[in-house]
Amino acid sequence: MTESFIAKNKERMLKELTELLSIPSISTEPSNAADVQRCAEWIADHCRAIGMTETRIYPTPGHPIVYAEWLGAGADAPTVLFYGHYDVQPVDPLHLWTNPPFEPVFRDGKVFARGATDDKGQVFLHLKALEALFAERGSLPVNVKLLIEGEEEIGSPNLEPFMNEYREMLRCDTVLISDTPIFAPGLPSLVYGLRGLCYMEVEFTGPNRDLHSGTFGGAVHNPINALAETIARLKDGFGRITIPGFYGDVVPLTQEEREDFARLPYNDQAYCDELDISSTYGEFGYSTYERTGARPTLDVNGIWGGFIGEGAKTVLPSKATAKISMRLVPHQKTDTIAALFEEHIRTIAPPTMKVKVTNLHGADPALTPRDSDGVKAAVKALEYAYNAKPVLSREGGSIPVCLLFDTILNAPTVLMGFGLNTENAHSPDEHFSLENFEKGIIATSVFYDEFLSIARGA
Ligand code: BES
Ligand code: ZN
Repeated sequence: MTESFIAKNKERMLKELTELLSIPSISTEPSNAADVQRCAEWIADHCRAIGMTETRIYPTPGHPIVYAEWLGAGADAPTVLFYGHYDVQPVDPLHLWTNPPFEPVFRDGKVFARGATDDKGQVFLHLKALEALFAERGSLPVNVKLLIEGEEEIGSPNLEPFMNEYREMLRCDTVLISDTPIFAPGLPSLVYGLRGLCYMEVEFTGPNRDLHSGTFGGAVHNPINALAETIARLKDGFGRITIPGFYGDVVPLTQEEREDFARLPYNDQAYCDELDISSTYGEFGYSTYERTGARPTLDVNGIWGGFIGEGAKTVLPSKATAKISMRLVPHQKTDTIAALFEEHIRTIAPPTMKVKVTNLHGADPALTPRDSDGVKAAVKALEYAYNAKPVLSREGGSIPVCLLFDTILNAPTVLMGFGLNTENAHSPDEHFSLENFEKGIIATSVFYDEFLSIARGA
């Protein structure tokens, strides 16, 4: 039984997890490229060690892709392709971490480190589930392929060409991903919708150099003020985005979908308390989970310019820059939104500013089937591991390649994740619940058995 495998091997597993979480595989940081490579090698070595028969590292123009397979179930047996990512987000602001982000600490039944929940901890639990099956039975119930990439957090720029080139090698009956949260502690969920993303950078340049704010202030348009004024015009008083055409492809929620959202357990006070906010905020006429799961939004992720050091410096800066992201919903397209955004910024920017707009990266939104064999197997697996019926939910985050499994591999995707939305993904003190880590191992090993019997029509 997987449960006894976990009990016997727990200490070793957590030591291995510590090793994995200690590698600073920050994909967006050029100075971390060697660490990202080292992390790929760690994963590949681990795949070999647990019993995967073919394991290869594919270099790309960016960070490498790890591919591993075990096809011992035979040509007649179904094949599951697991997808995950071993890269992580940057760690700043570093001073807000209780412990250094790449020195994992176990506390209160959680492991704290960058990548703990997103996504190294979740990838690792899959490797442990496979290891448990190999150890107990010497084989797996189905053929398994692993596709673990190092560029998810920067928009997976090299995965689409890879998938096109290796379409045959990646052929499978279902795709399984664990890079999403469960709905609440003890309440597993299957995610069937993810938002897309369009991530832009806007730079305003005013005067040709920084100026004395006493000598020039009042006579020269300040780029930070101008940028703030422009950003303020991107949403109206109802929280709707004002970019013309922005909602053109958004399909309104049906009554049935709204009823589904309304059935999800939600407590406004608890939601606010957990975040220490006085109230939620967002587009008028929609509930919190509709806002995060099924409506697009626009947020400034960072803004800078002028003097930000200690104390005061009287300066009228030459430049101001903001990173602005938009989360998208079916059937918006990231490239279309990027073009609409740039056009609108150029239209509303004050004539006093020179404007530069850059598209940093993006992802198209995805809806996955709610009734595939994979989803049915995952329902059973989660029910077994959590002793609770999973809910179906839609999440606000993005997995850039999600749609490609459908379009390139023609395989349905199952989003069976084990994180929690409160685990500080992308923030200081990211962590992962060890209870969900263990339940994840159990659910994953059950998933393979269930998928086999469902695919065989049992
Ligand atoms: N694990 C997340 C995706 C996610 C987060 C799904 C929350 C559901 C709920 C993933 O690793 C991620 O963070 N993706 C990025 C993609 C982007 C950089 C293109 C994201 O959503 O910001
Ligand atoms: Zn992730």
